[in-house]
Amino acid sequence: MTTRKNPDAPRKILVTSALPYANGSIHLGHLVEYIQTDIWVRFQKMQGHEVHYVCADDTHGTPIMLRAEKEGITAEQLIDRVWHEHKADFNSFLVEFDNYGSTNSDETKQYAEEIYLRLDKANLIAKRSIEQFYDPVKNMFLPDRFIKGECPKCHANDQYGDNCEVCGAAYAPTDLINPYSAVSGAKPELRFSDHYFFKLSADTCQQFLREWTRSGSLQPEAANKMQEWLGAEGENKLTDWDISRDAPYFGFEIPGAPGKYFYVWLDAPVGYMGSFRQLCNEKGLDFDEYWKAGSKTEMYHFIGKDILYFHALFWPAMLQHAGFRTPTKLFAHGFLTVNGEKMSKSRGTFITAKSYVDHVGNTEYLRYYYAAKLNGTMEDLDLNLEDFVAKVNSDLVGKYINIASRCAGFLTKFFDGKLAFGEMENVLGGAVGSGQTIAESFESRDYARALRDIMGIADRINGEIAIAAPWILAKDETRRAALHDICSRALHGFYVLSILLRPVLPELTSRVARELFGMNRDFTWHDLSVLPTRVNPYQHLATRLDPKLIEAMVAANKESLQPAAESRQRHAEHQQHTVAKEAAQAEIDMQSFISIEDFAKIDLRVARIVNAEHVEGAEKLLKLTLDIGEAQPRTVFAGIKSVYDPEKLKGRMTVMVANLAPRKMKFGLSEGMVLAASGETPGLFILSPDDGAQPGMRIK
Ligand code: MSP
Ligand code: ZN
Repeated sequence: MTTRKNPDAPRKILVTSALPYANGSIHLGHLVEYIQTDIWVRFQKMQGHEVHYVCADDTHGTPIMLRAEKEGITAEQLIDRVWHEHKADFNSFLVEFDNYGSTNSDETKQYAEEIYLRLDKANLIAKRSIEQFYDPVKNMFLPDRFIKGECPKCHANDQYGDNCEVCGAAYAPTDLINPYSAVSGAKPELRFSDHYFFKLSADTCQQFLREWTRSGSLQPEAANKMQEWLGAEGENKLTDWDISRDAPYFGFEIPGAPGKYFYVWLDAPVGYMGSFRQLCNEKGLDFDEYWKAGSKTEMYHFIGKDILYFHALFWPAMLQHAGFRTPTKLFAHGFLTVNGEKMSKSRGTFITAKSYVDHVGNTEYLRYYYAAKLNGTMEDLDLNLEDFVAKVNSDLVGKYINIASRCAGFLTKFFDGKLAFGEMENVLGGAVGSGQTIAESFESRDYARALRDIMGIADRINGEIAIAAPWILAKDETRRAALHDICSRALHGFYVLSILLRPVLPELTSRVARELFGMNRDFTWHDLSVLPTRVNPYQHLATRLDPKLIEAMVAANKESLQPAAESRQRHAEHQQHTVAKEAAQAEIDMQSFISIEDFAKIDLRVARIVNAEHVEGAEKLLKLTLDIGEAQPRTVFAGIKSVYDPEKLKGRMTVMVANLAPRKMKFGLSEGMVLAASGETPGLFILSPDDGAQPGMRIK
């Protein structure tokens, strides 16, 4: 921790969590980070410090651009929809940002440009021509992840351009055998283009990063990683970082470089500044006080270990050389596993935030469990679903809530809700003392230790209650004083526990403060040194977690994904079949019901058949060129040769499945499927929309 002149003066702290990508839902893995950060922020706020917690959606890049195109909406529409989904998920899990922005904002643009221009002025930007794969159909350069082909090592088909999922080999996209574009299926060409680089290899960057690594801004494990990346003194291992991408790209155009855009990772961390700027505008805070070089305020980035590279190398080097302050510390965490394994769609353990809310409901249970597992290191943590239920029920309900539910009623029934103060002074000392130790655990993000200590207190109180047995005392009118004493001690204990648990359980402890202790505000840490004087009638606070809810959640995640998994499996099997068989197998599984969500996954579009032709050597197929309102028409091979004359199809409107994974066939890539009816009687009939339907219209 930074040393401060006056340890009692409130600290000024800016905290961030990594910005989630705007092309996917928040899942239980993400929540490790946002819950971890939120607990820390709430703890610091309870201490009376001035804390600002900002985050944003990370909205730029090729995947988002292509996904929007697939959905037939603009990138702006996509990121707007996802922003609202993310915000709702964070609200459900009580992750309370002071501002939740978007990297696609004026503020982020302004700082991204400013940083770039300052780096350029400092002679740290270089322009170089590089050779890359280009999709001649889609007219775009392809990121590695959008190039597929045969693995050069194990010869597995359909592997990504950066590594093979079958044998694990890592390679360059140019090493792939028979590469094809995952966007259009076209054979990519190598083309040259000018790219802009941040000169990370410059001495000034390497020297700065070495110093920064030694400055205590990193956890020991992260500092070790940095040493690896930086190499030995004088080794200058870092290479320049490619920060530009060619159009078409969804992002910010680089000033003075038309058609060139900032690579998404250039403006992503700048989103921290952009989001904070919005908060400053709203609250009248001084942006420079937090960001100018030499700032006396503290700044912490909570991140996952997978993005340490970006935050420990590029980001501080960018800030430093553009005249801004660098982060006080990076807090990296490990990855979530579920039941000891990577989250998996087929096992039903790839669980979205929304699915948890829909099935389990109480999000503070998950906050509690994650807190019990988080120790401030970069180790992975496991959500064991059985253990989750057991821990919530034994600790939260069985130990903590139990204290109030067993004792509060006697206070209201016999003592008008008043607590007796006879022996209380010595109890207070203990509360303040353990509060100190627990505060240190929260501060160092060792929530696991904090909760162990907190539950230790709960155990001692429950032990006292068991010995005194208030339910027996209550039956004997001569023992009212003893009854009053134990119940008062118990409720004071419950009050202390509630204060200590507030960072983890903000909603529950807010109810305790307001409903039970009749306060008109939430707890602060300072409340530990104050005795509660009375309680209101006890109202039910928490229910045991029913393991059936968890089972249902896992089953639902399996169920909803099974059709997709099966179709992938079918798809894989397909590829081994002949083309003729493939066409015949386009049958719909009518065995079971599907949900409306399942149906919505199929992107059906009105298509105009621009061209239809015979395919040399194919018995059953016609090659169709279909206009569905996209920049480029799609190619689809359809098994309708026996019944349709290609000439008669030209100009016709029909219906196609637009989001079927492109399939490599002997004759070329098929980018979708046209629908046709067939039955017991002979014949095959393609569909037509009513007059007026335009290419690209969605069918739903
Ligand atoms: N957009 C980037 C971050 C840019 S920050 C300037 C990104 N987004 S992400 O959506 O993939 O991940 C957001 C955060 O969630 C990251 O810190 C990542 O490490 C974390 N997690 C994503 N999956 C996770 C687990 N399964 N377990 C724990 N944390 C995980 O990266
Ligand atoms: Zn391989």
